[in-house]
Formats: sequence, C-alpha cells, structure tokens
Amino acid sequence: MNADSATLNVPDAPVTDEDPFSDENIANPYPLFVRLRELAPAVFIQPHGYYAVTRHEEAGIVASDYARFSTAAGVGLSDIRKPGAWRPRSPITEIDPPEHTRVRAALQKILSPLVVKTWRDKFAQRAEEVAERVVAQGSIDGVKDISEAFVLQVFPEVLGVDVQPERIKQTGELNFNQLGPNNARLARAMKRTAPLMEWYAQVLQREHMLPGGFGEKIYLAEDAGDFDPGTAAPHVRTFFRAGVDTTMAGIGSTLKLLAENPDQFALVKADPARIKGAFEEALRLESPAQVMFRTTTADVELGGVRLRADTKVGYHIGAANRDPRQWPEPDRFDVTRQTTGIHRSFGVGAHVCIGQMIARLEAESILGAIIHRVSAIEPAGAAQWRLVNTLRTLDTLPLRLVR
Ligand code: HEM
Repeated sequence: MNADSATLNVPDAPVTDEDPFSDENIANPYPLFVRLRELAPAVFIQPHGYYAVTRHEEAGIVASDYARFSTAAGVGLSDIRKPGAWRPRSPITEIDPPEHTRVRAALQKILSPLVVKTWRDKFAQRAEEVAERVVAQGSIDGVKDISEAFVLQVFPEVLGVDVQPERIKQTGELNFNQLGPNNARLARAMKRTAPLMEWYAQVLQREHMLPGGFGEKIYLAEDAGDFDPGTAAPHVRTFFRAGVDTTMAGIGSTLKLLAENPDQFALVKADPARIKGAFEEALRLESPAQVMFRTTTADVELGGVRLRADTKVGYHIGAANRDPRQWPEPDRFDVTRQTTGIHRSFGVGAHVCIGQMIARLEAESILGAIIHRVSAIEPAGAAQWRLVNTLRTLDTLPLRLVR
C-alpha cells in the first residue's frame, strides 16, 4: 500500500532501549509513561520492535483508524499472520471492517441491552451474598474475597458455560501475558497452564454450553450462518479472555483507591450514584487492559512523526489515561471527574468494548452491596500488584471493612 503523503516531510519516530515489560515497569509503569509521553507521540521500542503511543489523542487515533492501523495482524504484539505467532486469532477482535461490522452486529444482537438487563437480578443476588459474607468477616482480601469471589461466579453463570471458576482465572492470566511479548513471564505462564490446555479446548465446545445461555446462543448463531463455520468456540473463548480478568482488575482497583482515599469514599457513601464515577475513575487511573496493538498498513504519519509500514503499534491505555494534555491533575483519584467516553479503558472506535455495560453492571452491583453495609473501607496492609504483561491487576489487597 502507498505511504501517507504526509509521511514524506516528517522525521522518523525516536527510538528507545527502555522495556515497558520489565518487572520494574510492569510493577509501576507511570514513570516510564511520563518519559515516553514527553519524548514524542510515538516512540520505537527497540527491545520489542514496536511503536509505543502514550498520549491520549494519538492513542484514540491508533485504536480507531483501522485503514492505517489494522487489527488483522493481531491485537497483541505477536503478528498472528506470521509463523512463530504465540497467540491464536480471535474471530471478532482481529478482523477489520467491513468484515468486522457483520460479526459485531451478530454478537450485539445476542448481547442486547435487553438481554443484559435480565442478568441484573442475578448480579444483585450474588452481590448480596458476597457482601454479607465479607462484611461479617471484617478483615479480608479484596481480590480473593470480593472481586474474584463475585466475578468468577457470576460471569460463567451468565455466559452459560459449565466451568470451574479457578481454571478460568488461570487461563485468563495466560491470555494477558500472550498479548505482550514472548518473554520469560509468558514462558512461565505457559508452563503453569500447560496441563489445562486440553480441558480449555473442551470446555468451549457446544456440549458445555448451558441451555438458554449466551454460549449456546453463539452456537445457534453459527448454525444460522451469522458467524463463519468453526468460529463459535473461539467466540466463547474471546468472551472469557476479554471479560473476566479485566472486570476483576477494575473492581479490585476501585476498592484499593476508595480505601486509600477516605474523602472520596465519603463522597460515594453520601451519594451511592457516585459508585459509577468511582469505578470509571479507577479504570482511568489503573487501566486493566494496559496496552492493545495494531499494525501499520503503510508508512504513516502520527502526531508529526513517521511510523514505518507493517510494524506493530501499541496504544498504551494506562499512559493515555494519565496524559496531562487531557486530564487536570491526572494522578489524582476524583470520583466526580467526567471520564465516561473520554478515558481509553474500553478502547475506542469499531472495536470498543462490547461488554462494557456488563462490566459496569457487575461493578455497581458488588461495590454497591458492600458500600451500603460499611461506614469505612480501610487498608489493612500493603497491596501487591500481580506482574502480567498487559494487565494491571492486584494480587492481594488486605482490607478492613468497618460496619
Ligand atoms: C472493566 C472491564 C473491561 C475492560 C477494561 C475492557 C477493555 C476492553 C478494551 C480496551 C477493548 C478494545 C480492544 C482493542 O482496542 O483492541 C475491549 C474489547 C472487547 N471486550 Fe472488553 N473490557 C472489559 C470488560 C468486558 C466484558 C465484561 C466483556 C464480555 C462480556 C468484554 C468483551 C469484549 C470483546 C468481545 C471485545 C472485542 C470487541 C471487538 O473487537 O469488536 N469486555 N475491551
């Protein structure tokens, strides 16, 4: 394909040796994001051979301008068209419009707001059970006892897939490592999950779909010709990969930030309608999906620098969401901030998250049930981040729930 005419007169993007996937940068990515954002709108990351885009405006362009930044080579760092790719293709995220438009419309029909509404009661009931239990305990781990206990139970239920929650957690972490580089962290995750792979392939098959559930509807849509033959199982897999770990991560970070910011907790307690704002603000500050990739279809110009053709471009959501060009006091947790539709946490454009209303409904159910029962949420020890290539998620979150 021809290069943008604009690329002829602009300099190449600068190059850096810094590694966004080192232990240090995964544990605390923000100092590196400041350096990359200030250097240029796109910076070539030498150790992994991709362009990092860390500013809010340009991240939106990379996410949505599919003619120049395609998803067909994969939304991870691996080029799934080439030999040696280290992750399988998804039949929804890794196709561009117009093909994507047809698949997305068929999925949207199955996942209509009307269908999601019917899940509300189930979420509310499970949230009450979890909240009752943790508030009675008092000292708890916000990850294991709240976000995992809730999401790992309700999500497979509404998806209508008969699966043990613990196993879904293990394969989810593998997915978010696979989206990043083929590094030692991914090798360890693959070794840990190798014994589960046969089971994982099986559990996505039709016989494991519960009657009337979302998974069964995907198979029925394939029968009706809405999806290409053989894509129902990968569709179900995409939902597990995209919907579980991200939501658990977002709920965990909201609890952490509310515990660390009692003034913001007080605002939410005084007006529970602000729970929505608290969740969105936590998604902005500690974006669960940290980076998603595209591939340049030609030499292109972005923000005044030139990006070479057929090269991966990562839009770093976690960096764009703290870009001071967009956000006043970007590092401050402010539950009243207007963020919905502006933060990049659910992506933007044709591939914008199809499950965002489900994530919101889950978060509002569990956070609402807990906040209703407590007068304070206090840190009860140091929280630990789990080191995953492309997911910002907590490993442990010691909390004290005060009635
Ligand atoms: C807080 C929770 C969530 C976050 C942060 C999140 C984040 C994202 C992001 C950033 C994208 C765009 C990817 C790209 O640009 O390449 C995306 C797409 C997607 N998400 Fe989510 N997601 C969440 C919850 C969910 C849930 C609950 C589901 C399923 C019910 C889901 C299903 C999907 C699917 C299928 C796509 C691909 C859409 C497409 O390519 O057209 N997500 N999500």
